[in-house]
Amino acid sequence: MNLLVIGSGGREHALCWKLRQSARVDRLFCAPGNAGIAAVAECMALADNEAIIAFARANAIGLVVVGPEAPLVGGLVDALRSAGIAAFGPSAAAARLEGSKGFTKALCARANIPTAAFARFDSGAAARDYVAAHPLPVVIKADGLAAGKGVVIAHTREEAAAALEAMPGPVVIEAFLTGTEASLFVLCDDENIVPLGSAQDYKRVGDGDTGSNTGGMGAVSPAPALTPALERRALAEIVAPTIATMAAMGTPFTGVLFAGLMLTADGPQLIEYNVRFGDPECEALMVRLESDLLDLLLAASEGRLADTRPAWREGASVTVIMAAEGYPAAPITGSVIGGVEAAEATGAVVFHAGTSRRDDGALVASGGRVLAVTATGRDVGGARRAAYAAVDSIDWPGGFCRRDIAGLWASGIGE
Ligand code: AMP
Ligand code: GLY
Repeated sequence: MNLLVIGSGGREHALCWKLRQSARVDRLFCAPGNAGIAAVAECMALADNEAIIAFARANAIGLVVVGPEAPLVGGLVDALRSAGIAAFGPSAAAARLEGSKGFTKALCARANIPTAAFARFDSGAAARDYVAAHPLPVVIKADGLAAGKGVVIAHTREEAAAALEAMPGPVVIEAFLTGTEASLFVLCDDENIVPLGSAQDYKRVGDGDTGSNTGGMGAVSPAPALTPALERRALAEIVAPTIATMAAMGTPFTGVLFAGLMLTADGPQLIEYNVRFGDPECEALMVRLESDLLDLLLAASEGRLADTRPAWREGASVTVIMAAEGYPAAPITGSVIGGVEAAEATGAVVFHAGTSRRDDGALVASGGRVLAVTATGRDVGGARRAAYAAVDSIDWPGGFCRRDIAGLWASGIGE
């Protein structure tokens, strides 16, 4: 079968890397891809939905796998299905679970799903009054796609006022939840749900969870704090009622649902949904997954998940993101990256995010998050040592990484 993956990040490199291992895959294409993806897939630019549909027809694509949220929220999967082309991912209506925080909060209220108490406002004046009376800290979120950067946790009235000032559109204001975060992934085929692993993401740019929020600076999988009992609760109390409600509303969910959870003293609560794999969580998941990824994606898109159970390698994985100096505010691109082969010779996998090739063939940074250095181990400590050994083989003066990914879990102290 010929496949087309849409996207250009470390997540899509991990998906292409894993799909390439499937005996059922003939030609693998990625649009637009990046310098690392080019080693496992044929990369090309496709300007819009029409170009993707024409390409899929011309190249007998058996499944289009959509990586990022923007094309999902924009209706790419609907366009493909209307054209008779199979696709992995939710419809635009189902992608509202990520595209609109207001939609998700209303669904939580309707299905009695545990989540932070909230209110949604269109107008600045009403939001300002509400925030002024809300206990601190208070969480203020832009209601729309914001790539993980539209959230402010305000600890003072001044911070809260400044955050509202900076978010002119509709906002969701919610209570602050305390606990450890976990990302839970679930394959869905409108009706059935199949857990597809978990990870803990490290969202802040600096060691010790300091500095600004980012798309994610590293991950450990499985999520150490998500015990099997807590995972069962999250599936039963959060994911299952969501999928049932989406189906009852006539907008069933197909694809991978990513539940961002806060593991609180009262049990798992939903922070947010994403309608795609996480990045860097996907990188950490793919190196642990033993099953054929194409089989799983096809089962989800063809409504055959009832008999599907993914198999996993023993142990854990750790991903360390190497980012360009200046990320997330103003990453400096163009610096030359060396040592990737040496890093891979240690047994790690170096997934590329923002990389490209200069005319002379040199690998250069072309984005904020640049490499997702990923390794497995018998336990978190082993995976962490292997990931940082590979990081230390990379020769890139223009880049930086956090040094504490999975650190507390590796020493057995917990978080
Ligand atoms: P979101 O874009 O909704 O995932 O929010 C980004 C990050 O902000 C989350 O991963 C959490 O670290 C934090 N966050 C969001 N909502 C809350 C909340 N209600 N309580 C505490 N932290 C939150
Ligand atoms: N790493 C979090 C996300 O992909 O949204």
